Amino acid sequence: MKIIVTGSSGLIGSEVVSYFAEKKHILYGIDNNMRMDFFGANGDTTWRQKELLSKYPNFKHYNLDIRDRTAVLKCIAEIKPDVIIHAAAQPSHDLAASRPFDDFDVNAVGTLNLLEAVRRVARESVFVYMSTNKVYGDAPNKINLKELEKRWDYDDDKFKNGITENFTIDQSKHSLFGASKAAADILVQEYGRYFQIKTCCLRGGCLTGPNHCGVELHGFLSYLVKTNLTGNLYTVYGYKGKQVRDNIHSLDVAKFIECFIKNPRIGEVYNLGGGRNNSCSILEAFEMVEQITSKKMNYEYSDKNREGDHICYISNLKKIKSHYPQWRITVPLKEIFKQIVKGWQKRNTCV
Ligand SMILES: NC(=O)c1ccc[n+]([C@@H]2O[C@H](COP(=O)([O-])OP(=O)(O)OC[C@H]3O[C@@H](n4cnc5c(N)ncnc54)[C@H](O)[C@@H]3O)[C@@H](O)[C@H]2O)c1
Repeated sequence: MKIIVTGSSGLIGSEVVSYFAEKKHILYGIDNNMRMDFFGANGDTTWRQKELLSKYPNFKHYNLDIRDRTAVLKCIAEIKPDVIIHAAAQPSHDLAASRPFDDFDVNAVGTLNLLEAVRRVARESVFVYMSTNKVYGDAPNKINLKELEKRWDYDDDKFKNGITENFTIDQSKHSLFGASKAAADILVQEYGRYFQIKTCCLRGGCLTGPNHCGVELHGFLSYLVKTNLTGNLYTVYGYKGKQVRDNIHSLDVAKFIECFIKNPRIGEVYNLGGGRNNSCSILEAFEMVEQITSKKMNYEYSDKNREGDHICYISNLKKIKSHYPQWRITVPLKEIFKQIVKGWQKRNTCV
């Protein structure tokens, strides 16, 4: 198969490239290292691009900006891919407020450029879009919660297994990032339903793994582990540090994408996170990383939570598992921590 991956040097893009390159497919990566423009030198992903290029002769890199409509159309027309996995993004809630045009142009317009190119020149392609749980805005914060010793949890049986795909995406605070991603999410669904293209939106919980270039503004576990290893100060923003995230290893994301490609559907939407078993609060994450590195977390607490931040978010995996029963989480949380620690040590960028 010919597979185009956008954001191919980033966490998800690069995992997907190596996953399918190992299986001898032909991979075309699109990434202009805009993560460095967004987050500075710590967000530079070129090391990963070089790693992929040196390892996989069946991988070709395009230094292309998905905002460039003409170049996107030309690239897709030339390649005529069987699959497009769209993982390029401005991924930070907080950054979006200071760069609203860049955020919308990359996340919403960039996605439209890809979809329209597919419709014009590669209509049979399967289109997988990395959406986000921020499309639900802060509406999950309206669920009744109970405060436990180290975490918040749902105090409503309806949500004991997490948030489902029919949760409202309307009338809540999303952050500009959540709004641009929701625009793209709706477009992806629409190109499915309206034009009968095989599209799906994967509404990610916390996607993570050893190859993330975590920075304070994006990449929760990666940044938390890096801060532990360096001994730098970590700031907890609000909610008593008991805010809960469900974490999924990028490998399990790639494995799901493979299931979808083998048996695609039209205009689908799935919540894709680690589920309850892979969930942790910030305080629990501190304990887990300390156990592995034997280093104390150096942190401070700020009363002010991040705008629109979820207090407790756990993806309900019932729908995704019912459509693709062969898929499951294969990397448990403790193993994710271990791999992230090793990843930073291997890159030797902080220890
Ligand atoms: N990491 C998470 O916790 C998480 C959670 C939910 C959803 N997501 C979504 O998953 C996707 C992948 O996230 P990630 O963590 O791998 O992000 P990432 O920042 O690691 O990777 C994104 C890549 O896209 C590239 N890029 C950005 N703008 C571009 C442009 N204009 N043209 C070409 N390339 C461009 C960047 O250089 C970067 O390498 C994103 O859509 C993100 O919103 C991520």
